[in-house]
Amino acid sequence: MNIAVLCSGNGTNLQAIIEAVKTGFIPAKIALVVSDNGGAYALTRAKNAGIETLVLNPKDYPVREAFDKEVIKNLSKKEVGLVVLAGFMRLLSPYFINEYRNRIMNIHPALLPSFKGTRGVKDALEYGVKITGPTVHFVDDKLDHGPIILQSAVEVKDDDTEETLLGRIHQEEHKIYPQAIKLFVEGRVKIEGRRVKIT
Ligand code: GRF
Repeated sequence: MNIAVLCSGNGTNLQAIIEAVKTGFIPAKIALVVSDNGGAYALTRAKNAGIETLVLNPKDYPVREAFDKEVIKNLSKKEVGLVVLAGFMRLLSPYFINEYRNRIMNIHPALLPSFKGTRGVKDALEYGVKITGPTVHFVDDKLDHGPIILQSAVEVKDDDTEETLLGRIHQEEHKIYPQAIKLFVEGRVKIEGRRVKIT
């Protein structure tokens, strides 16, 4: 299966996925890395691994759907079977979600449905939860809402800052994201309503 990874930033999750493909843990090919940010370090990571990259500037497109159509055109060319969002900071249009329904994954740095949005780590810390951690889920029409594939628990320590907590959440992300992708590629992920069963 060909997969595409969409990133806007550092790309540590992309790196974990690259390694997992390299070792054969994920039996798939990363056919394309797409970014909406030409300065994203994720692009350097992709290039270092010999993966094709595509940068699209949202400012060049009048509406969200036009941007998304351009992404989809490129994904279709590569016959992409799974779209992986890894720190991609743009909302996908309903058009995109329909085209790839149940074939788009995202990772969120909190235990959904708690602490949705872009401040998941900060919000969890400020709320005072004792356990948090990342969630891998399918993407549907609502933000951070689709069926949950994998989650991992991370204990919040008394002296944690956003930075130290994020560091430990990232370590877990780098385990469960490749794991979820592997399961999907192997055809072992079954969606039943909101529940995802692993076979
Ligand atoms: C991750 O923490 C992920 O949970 C969130 O964006 C961050 C991306 O980090 N969606 P990186 O670019 O993979 O390092």
